[in-house]
Amino acid sequence: MKYWLAPAGLHIAPAEPEDVPQLARLHAEGFYRGWSEDEIRAYIDQPKHHFVYVATDPKRQIAGFMVLRQVADECELLTIAVAKRWRRKGLGNALLRAGFDDLMQTPAQTMFLEVEEGNKPAIALYRSYGFSPVSRREAYYDRGADAPASALVMRRELA
Ligand SMILES: CC(C)(COP(=O)(O)OP(=O)(O)OC[C@H]1O[C@@H](n2cnc3c(N)ncnc32)[C@H](O)[C@@H]1OP(=O)(O)O)[C@@H](O)C(=O)NCCC(=O)NCCS
Repeated sequence: MKYWLAPAGLHIAPAEPEDVPQLARLHAEGFYRGWSEDEIRAYIDQPKHHFVYVATDPKRQIAGFMVLRQVADECELLTIAVAKRWRRKGLGNALLRAGFDDLMQTPAQTMFLEVEEGNKPAIALYRSYGFSPVSRREAYYDRGADAPASALVMRRELA
């Protein structure tokens, strides 16, 4: 069983199917379009290419989670979210560290991610973790009645 220590007395572990309802609630708290339970379950059920991590207390109360997709020598950060009351305690950083640790056992060399260009906390987290912007995707995120938001593509080598 994989297990990483995290700040605030929490730990990080692979997600389990019973975590799905909590993860859907947490994702909805962090994003304009939250993922459905089925979407999250599909990632947990495809362990060949997807890595899903939770930051949790010993009673499986989940404070944050992250989903990675790794194919051949590339990896993509599909999502990362920390519950509002747990933010700024180092959990985002700890989730990334666990993922990078795991990816060392795979052929992955590079991680990419997309982030809304106005998402200052996330961009600050990624920069602090060594990601750099490589391109910009204009009007990438649909915002319904609001104007679409542009995305920044960021990259970091694993080693
Ligand atoms: C982005 C997010 C995951 C960060 O999680 P977190 O657990 O609060 O991040 P950490 O505490 O590990 O922060 C690590 C570093 O990132 C930077 N950072 C994180 N949040 C920041 C903020 N609000 N303002 C400025 N810098 C910030 C800092 O450098 C921080 O280190 P420091 O606290 O020692 O200064 C969290 O804000 C979140 O869930 N947001 C909503 C969902 C989201 O936008 N996800 C990213 C989608 S691409």
